[in-house]
Amino acid sequence: MKKQFGTIWIVGASAGIGAALAQKFHANPTSPDQKIIISARNSDKLGDLSDAFPGSTPISVDITDPNTVKTALNSIESQFGLPDLVILAAGIYSPMKVGGFSAATIRSHVDTNYMGIVHCLEPLLAKMRARKSGEIAVVASVAGYRGLPNAAAYGPTKAALINLCETLHTELTNSGVLLRVINPGFVKTRLTDKNDFAMPYLLTPEEAADFMYRDLCGNNRFEIAFPPPFVRQLKLMRILPYWLYFKLMSKLVRA
Ligand SMILES: NC(=O)c1ccc[n+]([C@@H]2O[C@H](COP(=O)([O-])OP(=O)(O)OC[C@H]3O[C@@H](n4cnc5c(N)ncnc54)[C@H](OP(=O)(O)O)[C@@H]3O)[C@@H](O)[C@H]2O)c1
Repeated sequence: MKKQFGTIWIVGASAGIGAALAQKFHANPTSPDQKIIISARNSDKLGDLSDAFPGSTPISVDITDPNTVKTALNSIESQFGLPDLVILAAGIYSPMKVGGFSAATIRSHVDTNYMGIVHCLEPLLAKMRARKSGEIAVVASVAGYRGLPNAAAYGPTKAALINLCETLHTELTNSGVLLRVINPGFVKTRLTDKNDFAMPYLLTPEEAADFMYRDLCGNNRFEIAFPPPFVRQLKLMRILPYWLYFKLMSKLVRA
């Protein structure tokens, strides 16, 4: 049976996958009283989107600053109540090869992709645990499954998120709060437009949103990962012994 959500908060909704998911929920409401709150840093973009999705509410937030996150959540709570479903989709990506190894680039990824999500989780977990209900979905990536070329700044942040979600999911058993991880494959957005290689199984943001919407509303499984053929291949890679894994990876790097 399809789940019903009252208040849905999408963080990272000004572009790409998050914006497509907001559009999907807007076009396919899960309940008659559904409210969508869209957040990111770019308030102009959020304003344009809330005009395009009437009834949605834009609230600016910079997840690297825990105070803006707490202020945004307090404002949502006072206007609409504590969210029933939160999708944490904010993230950044810069390809980084070993020749350009940079602590500053790595720090910016950790600050946004990891600590930014942690800043959101801290007040959300406290409030949802006190209420004994709520769902949170953290967008990580299949790039977090194993170390991949070009991804020295990005990949470790997504691996850390998957690990964090595994820990929290277990500890939240019987709390009434469901914490899930979303691991997309390649999706055509401004992030992947930076890649200079052919991306297998590349999806549109709308296709990614379809997978996410279907599983967010249709089941309680810990992981939402797509597209299935790509995920299967990468999960197989995850269990290969290092000698074989590195042999395959070195072919990729040379290609
Ligand atoms: N595209 C892919 O192939 C792919 C694959 C796997 C996972 N992912 C993950 O999916 C998520 C969405 O990525 P996307 O490809 O849709 O990228 P995108 O189009 O660049 O969207 C990223 C979103 O995050 C927001 N954001 C970035 N930094 C933020 C901050 N400090 N505070 C608040 N919001 C912030 C951006 O808005 P503002 O700039 O307005 O703040 C934007 O709304 C990311 O977590 C990404 O790692 C993407």
